[in-house]
Amino acid sequence: MKRQALLIGGGLAVTAYILGTSATADITGSLHDFSGQVWSQNQICLPCHAPHHAEAAEAGMLWNHTVTTAAYQIYGGDGATFPVDEALDQKSILCMSCHDGTVAVDAFGGLGGTFVIAGRGNLGTDLQNDHPVGRAAVYPTHAGYFDPATWENTAGFGFALADMDVDGELERVVSCATCHEPHNRNDNEFFLWVDNDGSQLCLTCHNK
Ligand code: HEC
Ligand code: HEC
Ligand code: HEC
Ligand code: HEC
Repeated sequence: MKRQALLIGGGLAVTAYILGTSATADITGSLHDFSGQVWSQNQICLPCHAPHHAEAAEAGMLWNHTVTTAAYQIYGGDGATFPVDEALDQKSILCMSCHDGTVAVDAFGGLGGTFVIAGRGNLGTDLQNDHPVGRAAVYPTHAGYFDPATWENTAGFGFALADMDVDGELERVVSCATCHEPHNRNDNEFFLWVDNDGSQLCLTCHNK
């Protein structure tokens, strides 16, 4: 399923971006294609990655978007706050650099931004009402959960747990990027790696 990139925030008159029909599932024309926005320099990748002079190279992935520095409340954390790099794995931090609402979508390449995600796409910094990720989602090995070896990479490259240092231990955790593929390669609703019809995504991990 493909939807038009929305205009984020008000203020600028943006010409509707008309899609070329794309034969393959990909980021073009998805909600992560900002190339129709006047601030995008007509680029798809640039708001997130740059081939040179990437703004936040230390984040990995040639990351070119301003990285969030917010503190988070986590699932099951009884309201305690954690610095972002203790709360979340690295891939989730990249997602939350737009989806926590503290950094503008158009803050990339060292330029300050203006447009903050409004509505459901803005998860905020209180993740107590969201499926656990990062520190709150160390993958358990007991019978309630399928062995990752049975499902990792089954839905294509990258459908996998992420590595995270949790209190000095290297753990395998559920990340935003475990459930979602930000480039829409599988063309599922909500950028999911596995279509969630019949809760198939949930039943990949949870033995219920
Ligand atoms: C909205 C932000 C966003 C946009 C736009 C985006 N990416 Fe990414 N990309 C990410 C995130 C987040 C990750 C890390 C999570 C992951 O590995 O899926 C990533 C990872 C990658 C990786 C390494 C892992 C992999 O999936 O192979 C490559 C290569 C990549 N992106 C290329 C691109 C290219 C090329 C474009 C433009 C056509 C692009 N990306 C557009 C967010 C984005
Ligand atoms: C550069 C900013 C940016 C980054 C980085 C980013 N997103 Fe988004 N994402 C957006 C915007 C903007 C939208 C559209 C939001 C809206 O219209 O409400 C969106 C939409 C989405 C949607 C909704 C798709 C739909 O079909 O409804 C999902 C899911 C999503 N993003 C997940 C992620 C995940 C997971 C990551 C990291 C792997 C990520 N995003 C990284 C900006 C970003
Ligand atoms: C366990 C799987 C899973 C994880 C982990 C996960 N999501 Fe989602 N996400 C979903 C599903 C399924 C949907 C589809 C909508 C729904 O069922 O509420 C969704 C919907 C969304 C949407 C669309 C807005 C909405 O609420 O409907 C955004 C944006 C999003 N996710 C971003 C993220 C980000 C950012 C992270 C990391 C903090 C994340 N997701 C972690 C499964 C997940
Ligand atoms: C990639 C694997 C994975 C997927 C996919 C997944 N989960 Fe989870 N889920 C986990 C892990 C790991 C935890 C944290 C377990 C722990 O800490 O004991 C968790 C926790 C939960 C919890 C909280 C359990 C508790 O004891 O507080 C619920 C509820 C839940 N998941 C429901 C869902 C639903 C609904 C879906 C589908 C939208 C889903 N999960 C998809 C791995 C997954």
